[in-house]
Amino acid sequence: MCGIVGVLGQHEVAPILVEALKRLEYRGYDSAGIATIENGKLDRRRAVGKLVNLSDLLVHDPLAGKIGIGHTRWATHGAPNVANAHPHRAGKVAVVHNGIIENYRELRSDLAAEGIGHETDTDTETVALLADHYLGQGLDPVGAARATIARLEGAYALCFLFDGEPDLLIAARKGSPLAIGHGTGEMYVGSDAIALAPMTDRITYLEEGDMAVVTRSSLVITDHTHTPVNREARTIEIDTTRVDKAGHKHFMAKEIAEQPAVIGGALGHYLSEDGRQINLPGEGIDFTAINRLTMVACGTAYYACLTAKYWFEQIAGLPVDVDIASEFRYREPPVTSGTVALFVSQSGETADTLAALRYCEGRADAIVSVVNVPESSIARESDLALPIHAGVEIGVASTKAFTCQLTVLLLLALKAAQARGMISDDRLADLLSALRAMPAALNTAMERDGDFKTAARLLSTYDNALFLGRGLMYPLALEGALKLKEISYIHAEAYASGELKHGPIALIDDTMPVIVLAPCDTLFDKTVSNMQEVMARGGQIMLISDAKGAADAGEGVWQTLTMPMVDPILSPILYALPVQLLAYHTAVAKGTDVDQPRNLAKSVTVE
Ligand code: F6R
Repeated sequence: MCGIVGVLGQHEVAPILVEALKRLEYRGYDSAGIATIENGKLDRRRAVGKLVNLSDLLVHDPLAGKIGIGHTRWATHGAPNVANAHPHRAGKVAVVHNGIIENYRELRSDLAAEGIGHETDTDTETVALLADHYLGQGLDPVGAARATIARLEGAYALCFLFDGEPDLLIAARKGSPLAIGHGTGEMYVGSDAIALAPMTDRITYLEEGDMAVVTRSSLVITDHTHTPVNREARTIEIDTTRVDKAGHKHFMAKEIAEQPAVIGGALGHYLSEDGRQINLPGEGIDFTAINRLTMVACGTAYYACLTAKYWFEQIAGLPVDVDIASEFRYREPPVTSGTVALFVSQSGETADTLAALRYCEGRADAIVSVVNVPESSIARESDLALPIHAGVEIGVASTKAFTCQLTVLLLLALKAAQARGMISDDRLADLLSALRAMPAALNTAMERDGDFKTAARLLSTYDNALFLGRGLMYPLALEGALKLKEISYIHAEAYASGELKHGPIALIDDTMPVIVLAPCDTLFDKTVSNMQEVMARGGQIMLISDAKGAADAGEGVWQTLTMPMVDPILSPILYALPVQLLAYHTAVAKGTDVDQPRNLAKSVTVE
């Protein structure tokens, strides 16, 4: 994770660096820092915690200079304190880093053998120490950076600043993305194009193993063999407006409320004007030519894939494997001909998902991604990228991206079913019409926000919670537990309802609320039996169902939250809303940091 930025400017860079870091704060918010050169001298400021602390520090202790680098940190090695905050400095070198230097212990002992000690707990400090060491041996900055990079194992996006060099930044990437921005008489380096968007829309993406020597008037990129290479500069479209909360208390509340609109927007992008045809970009996917879909993702995006497995298998008769990216990438799974590999990622930068994608290159028939950021690494490295059109998601807990992922995946499953002759025209038309009505159903459900707030106040008094669901509601139960634990810090687990008696039922007593997701579908009666098993043991059931389910559930249910009726196939999109609202209101009741929960980052760019 971590976000890095570098600016070779014509004006004071400190405010520009801080503004760019604001746009990168989604990558981590444990500490932040900047370094600049003024009158040939390198200096830095660093602060623990959110970026606002660095801004405050700079008010009292400003940093001048027209060249600088900046960093927002998600701690991997070493506690989030000032000493461990970036930029790291050794002698004449300052460096910011995103990634993990895996051989830093070995490098440290090599440096120690030369009489060079370390002062921080970080892996990154060794990069600065090495570069300064090579400068001391007489190498120039480019030579020192190159010699340093040659010693590094692991993943990195790096940006170096050298004392006495007010017109030079050196950037390098391996495993972590890095973009170079072209301005007028200015140049920029950033973890992504979004960070650089207010300054420029002309972007060159570095490729694996590239090193860039950047001055205000030149950019020289060499590849891993040190051969100069041309990397295309493209003009990209990125919204430069800073997103605000639009009157909501938190970004998460705003993003939950936006779901009817963004789902409607996503449908507009994929459906024909009459709403009856599903159109995929480019040549789409030939679903008649494949016999398996391998879906890979992390976290909430993984739960979107688990949901989609039910859809692809039930509606389109297409076998699906779903995997967590961090497991998939090292398991060496056979990916045979006839397989399309499908990667789902809001950010499009998740390190494990990207590595899994690269594993499938040359093995799968095609690489398809479902992403929210069309300029992301995952989108760029796919044969076909399907944008979800959720708009910028700021809240660390994914909400609107999840329901937009579900929407696009359901459209894809319906497209597959149509291509494979597995769905009648009438049924397809019915489902598409129900999907088009989804924004209205979500709006109706949102009118019951007060009920969720009341239920959440009750939930907030417990230390644990269990989520249960069957069929399409099982992945959603997993998502509900994840949402609750990540923002309210209440320990929550989820099980397929039928698994309850195979172990978790031992946990049931009156201190364990059990949240049951159960629209009144063909599996409802079985879930009611599971609820009875819980209630018979003193467990308290919070049932989320429709009016019929609420009526049929019988006596003894502790809390009932009622949702509009929808076609059961579509229920995961609708039932995402109550689990999000429950988690949100519980977190608000507990007073946690809803948008930036502890220890998390929006984009997980380290493995
Ligand atoms: C949870 C959450 C995470 C992400 C996961 C994958 O609310 O947001 O679990 O879903 O880190 O991120 P992306 O989708 O960016 O690959």
